[in-house]
Amino acid sequence: MCGIIGYTGPDKVKNILLEGLAQLEYRGYDSAGIAIAREDGSIYVEKQTGQTANLKAACEQSDADGHCGIGHTRWATHGGVTRLNTHPHRAGKVTLIHNGIIENYHELIEEYQLQDQLVSETDSEVAAALLNRFYDGTNPKEAIKKTVALLEGSFAFCILFEGLTDRIYCIRSVSPLVASSTEHGSLVASDITAVIKYSRKYFVVPEHQLMILYPDHIDLLNEEGIKTEPEILEVNWDVESAQKMGFPHYMMKEIHEQPEAIRKTIAPRLKNGVPSFEDEGMDDSVFASFTNINVVACGTAMYAGMVGKAVIEPIVKIPVTVQIASEFRYSTPLINENTLTIVVSQSGETIDTLAALRLARSCGSKTLAIVNVKGSSIARESDYVLYTHAGPEIAVASTKAYSVQLSAFYLLACKIAMVRGIFDHAQAKDFINNLYQCIDAISGILEQKDQIREAAKCLENAEHAYYIGRGLDYAFSMEGALKLKEISYVHAEAYAAGELKHGTIALIEKNIPVVAFATQDSVYNKTISNIREVKARGAYVLLITKENAEIPAGVCDMHLTVPIENDLFTGLPTVVILQLLAYYTSLSKGLDVDKPRNLAKSVTVE
Ligand code: F6R
Repeated sequence: MCGIIGYTGPDKVKNILLEGLAQLEYRGYDSAGIAIAREDGSIYVEKQTGQTANLKAACEQSDADGHCGIGHTRWATHGGVTRLNTHPHRAGKVTLIHNGIIENYHELIEEYQLQDQLVSETDSEVAAALLNRFYDGTNPKEAIKKTVALLEGSFAFCILFEGLTDRIYCIRSVSPLVASSTEHGSLVASDITAVIKYSRKYFVVPEHQLMILYPDHIDLLNEEGIKTEPEILEVNWDVESAQKMGFPHYMMKEIHEQPEAIRKTIAPRLKNGVPSFEDEGMDDSVFASFTNINVVACGTAMYAGMVGKAVIEPIVKIPVTVQIASEFRYSTPLINENTLTIVVSQSGETIDTLAALRLARSCGSKTLAIVNVKGSSIARESDYVLYTHAGPEIAVASTKAYSVQLSAFYLLACKIAMVRGIFDHAQAKDFINNLYQCIDAISGILEQKDQIREAAKCLENAEHAYYIGRGLDYAFSMEGALKLKEISYVHAEAYAAGELKHGTIALIEKNIPVVAFATQDSVYNKTISNIREVKARGAYVLLITKENAEIPAGVCDMHLTVPIENDLFTGLPTVVILQLLAYYTSLSKGLDVDKPRNLAKSVTVE
């Protein structure tokens, strides 16, 4: 949520900020603004509602520039999408940008009588007003210390103080910030995509430490004011990975990157053709003794967990529960030291998932994170980390991150089965070969794009759509329905096919699209019966099966196939069909595929 960028150094700052905001726009695109410290000590602020292109156009009207500045792209939480609510917020000598939520801002307004000083409806401006109240014109550190001591909630702040034309003060709690000191100045950002152009080396700003960016170095001070050294990380992808590379949208590019991303996630973990996680600090003992698995995550990552459950349970025969992190974090979890909690997150920063992880640890559960972003909060706080190697995912709708999460679950299922004597070496190898076949199968699906585009026509004008399937097919259909909802705004629901007749079938009427999955042999006939039930009520059925399936006459209006024979592995190619269906539906409706309304990529607020 919300993108932050800051730079101080020898180069002109305006373009660096605008380019950085464009890179970070997927974190929020309600409005955007910049603040630049001018050489005369004053601060230039420009802000605009809408996407960062509007801000850029407004900035072109002014020649104001400098060498030190901050920029922000907003995902609105407190207060509507207005220019006044747009960051940066200014109070006296203080100008700041904020990502996070100050939960006690109402109390602070009253206690410090700030009402008359506020022009926006935001919680962030309250922090600016408090900083200004405590700033005596000489000691920014003291003002920051006093202010953050009062704040409840989460925050990442970048602050300019009038007159201090070369430095940016930053501090964070929970909300992410990374920084990089380069030969051409110092940078801070809410994630590495905005920094990678300037440096592959960066560090995650430690929580509660004050960071001061100077043109030639960065100081980190702990709560006692003592300098600390950050742990330097290096990204293993390059700047092109965060660009469209000739594709019309990031989403399409990322859909195409799935074969390679899956390969990169699987290959480094194979020894003698079977999974090994020893290089990641997980020897066999990690997988030997837990009695149950608890998966927690949000959205698409949680749906990956549903597939994980459907893969692990029948093989390993231990219970796997999948829980929505925002529910789990406020529940009384029935987990203990015999539970392995698997947290799944592309960003590694989703606040609910992070809180769920902390709760699981407090219950004594061991925690394993399946995470894409290196050094992220969830990765750092878990006992074990299995990084997925999808590279940066920029489109708001998750695609390749989901596929690599599924791949990680397959690897884990195989490993647990081996350690517990369920799979011998040959069986494990065979399992992994099946997983590898999914990569080719996905490439095959990508070649059928035109057919899928044609199939998507049934969704274009629909108000509602239903996704149905049984077992693993039900697990994929949940992700398919979410993709359609989020980028094409068609109301879509996933139902276990056998459950329809217990209520939902009342909603089926003439021509309503039903995307039906029947890739599981064990329930194939049952699913076909359920499809007949909706067909009999006038539904338009788009059926997805394996290639060799026999399709009874009249059961569907459109038919797509996945080139996989083993039931356990149909998910990866199936989901690519679902992603493309959602993509083409959104495209045909003229919507912004990469930046659907009301959403942001990284959900770092509750
Ligand atoms: C949907 C989507 C979201 C995320 C969810 C969790 O396409 O991307 O549902 O999956 O917000 O995000 P991460 O994986 O970053 O924890």
